[in-house]
Amino acid sequence: MDIGGLKKMALEEIDKAIDLVGLDNVYKKYLGKKGEIASFFGSLKNLPEKDRKEVGRCLNSFKKLLEEKIKIKEQEFKKSLKLFKNNKLDVSIPGKKIKTGHLHPLTLVKRRAENIFGEMGFSIAQGPEIEDEWHNFDALNIPKNHPARDMWDTFWLKNGKLLRTHTSPVQIRYMKKNNPPIRIIVPGRIFRHEATDASHEINFYQLEGLMIDKDISISNFKAIIQEFFSRFFNKVIEARLRPSFFPFTEPSFEVDMSCVVCEGTGCSVCSSTGWIEIMGAGMVHPNVLKAGGLIPRQKAKDTGWQGFAFGIGLDRLTMMKYKIDDIRLLYSGDIRFLKQF
Ligand code: PHE
Repeated sequence: MDIGGLKKMALEEIDKAIDLVGLDNVYKKYLGKKGEIASFFGSLKNLPEKDRKEVGRCLNSFKKLLEEKIKIKEQEFKKSLKLFKNNKLDVSIPGKKIKTGHLHPLTLVKRRAENIFGEMGFSIAQGPEIEDEWHNFDALNIPKNHPARDMWDTFWLKNGKLLRTHTSPVQIRYMKKNNPPIRIIVPGRIFRHEATDASHEINFYQLEGLMIDKDISISNFKAIIQEFFSRFFNKVIEARLRPSFFPFTEPSFEVDMSCVVCEGTGCSVCSSTGWIEIMGAGMVHPNVLKAGGLIPRQKAKDTGWQGFAFGIGLDRLTMMKYKIDDIRLLYSGDIRFLKQF
């Protein structure tokens, strides 16, 4: 190899050296007693007299260059080594943790509910938050001027539409587009024109359920909802139905579940009753089935359809699950509150 090639190689190797040992190896290889440069010097005597001087000078300047480069790099290494030893650079100190985001408690509860109902064969349906009067009221058997409309304080929009006051309009939308058997849940945001307090918000979340088939009964509903709550709270939960009124179901119920805190013996959460009111439900009213384009069942074994519907408050469920005593916390955006989930 000629001196030029050797120089290129040597400079590359200095560049690649990552510590003092590596650098020392490069030094030995080129500048050592038996190194490359030494052996070049040794072969000078074989050259014709007139070339020796020139080649010798070349070798000397190459040697000087290498020595300089190695020295500079050596000083760099020693400097960082010193930093190490003085503890100015401690690579064993853990780095700063990057704060990662996480899901909102309402989202956690919604997803858990979706999974459980999914396992029971329910699929997820969706509808618009800006709804028309017909879907939100009329089709649900709540005609204009009917006093039952007062059950839902409504935000009306300038264009005559409204912000849906419940997820029940999606029952109608789904029935119009899909043939039974129907087995859906509708998790979604709803709006009420109400004063806020610890248990009321102007917007919150519901999870609607709808099951339509030939022989669906109230006992199917009770079994499904008990199973849902038991899986959701990881303990055996009983459901209790109390007669109630909704225009779109007949009969209608208020559903209580056995208290998750005291398991029915009585505590402050359930006001010593052992039961917690958790949702509205009932058998879908024939007028609602008709509005959805279905023929309601009228007597046993006819070709009509029947089924149940329910509406769970997802905020209520979240508050029970995490023992939160004010619904407004869920919408406060307060990071001190949210960090706990
Ligand atoms: N839509 C009712 C409400 O908002 C809840 C409900 C749904 C009741 C389905 C019965 C059946 O209060």
